[in-house]
Amino acid sequence: MTTRRKFIKKISTVGAALPIASQIQGKEVKKNKPIIICSRGEQWGEKVLRPGWDILSSGGKLLDAIEKSANVTELDPEDTSVGYGGLPNEHGIVQLDASIMYGPTHNCGSVASIEGIKTPCSVARLVMERTDHIHIVGPGAQKFAIAHGFKVENLLTEKARKIWLRWKENLSDSDDWFPPENNNYDEKRITGTINVLGVDSLGDVAGITTTSGLAYKIPGRVGDSPIIGAGLYLDNEVGAAGATGRGEEILRTCGSFYVVEQMRAGKSPQEACEALCKRIVDINGGTKNIDFNDKIVAVSKSGEVGCASIKERKGNPPKLAYWSEDGFNVYDGTYLIEE
Ligand code: GLY
Repeated sequence: MTTRRKFIKKISTVGAALPIASQIQGKEVKKNKPIIICSRGEQWGEKVLRPGWDILSSGGKLLDAIEKSANVTELDPEDTSVGYGGLPNEHGIVQLDASIMYGPTHNCGSVASIEGIKTPCSVARLVMERTDHIHIVGPGAQKFAIAHGFKVENLLTEKARKIWLRWKENLSDSDDWFPPENNNYDEKRITGTINVLGVDSLGDVAGITTTSGLAYKIPGRVGDSPIIGAGLYLDNEVGAAGATGRGEEILRTCGSFYVVEQMRAGKSPQEACEALCKRIVDINGGTKNIDFNDKIVAVSKSGEVGCASIKERKGNPPKLAYWSEDGFNVYDGTYLIEE
């Protein structure tokens, strides 16, 4: 009898080993130009993508490439929106969300509200590869990570704790927390996040989205990043898309799924990213009601990239970085609204 476990394993193996083109007798597998992209510009792009590109360009596994790249941001305490060093929830506890998806098997895995684990995208990968589930949350996700040998660590850096404390002390004039003297608090709540998407030389597609989510969120709040179809989606015949910014808007538009389906219908990655931004503005009743930002990045199976945001950021267009056989590059996207 074929159990579900065996069945899934079987299709995974067949899918992974034999890309569609190579299954057609007598037809040669077309060599694709590999590319790895991330939703950051110059400042982070090069260091994030370097380990992934090293793996991809030397014939390593696509999933290893995107995981190692995403791990760079997760492990860096300077980044306050992803992994270790991310800003905490309203109680001062860091809760992380991450997802991963793999084109040849169309399989995926994710974790949400996971505490104490620095590299949630690596846990998401294990959910995809070593369970019959897709989404594991909260204490269950942490226990799953421990079972796989991950260490539970304090993710709240001094930098993030001080930023959180200033937010808490400035929250209200009618509670018992006082800000320090010379208080000039004027900080915006951040929704950082990083998407890492890749296409290998077989034309196979994979992606990761990882984040600490909305700063000072209500404990247990889950954003778009770990929800397949929202913060991340891909199709091995089309390409991949990932979102950053206000997750609630991406959730209620099934953002990344929308972008990939627009690409399937013939739009370029750039046109598809712009279409999602317009859709979000439309469902909010027009630009006058937009007091948030979202950014979407995409890559087609053939390696064409796209990037669009609803608003510009500090006078700059939204950016993505990519590494391909042409070297490291930064791509300027488009935005709908000038700030
Ligand atoms: N896009 C990240 C979040 O809203 O959690």
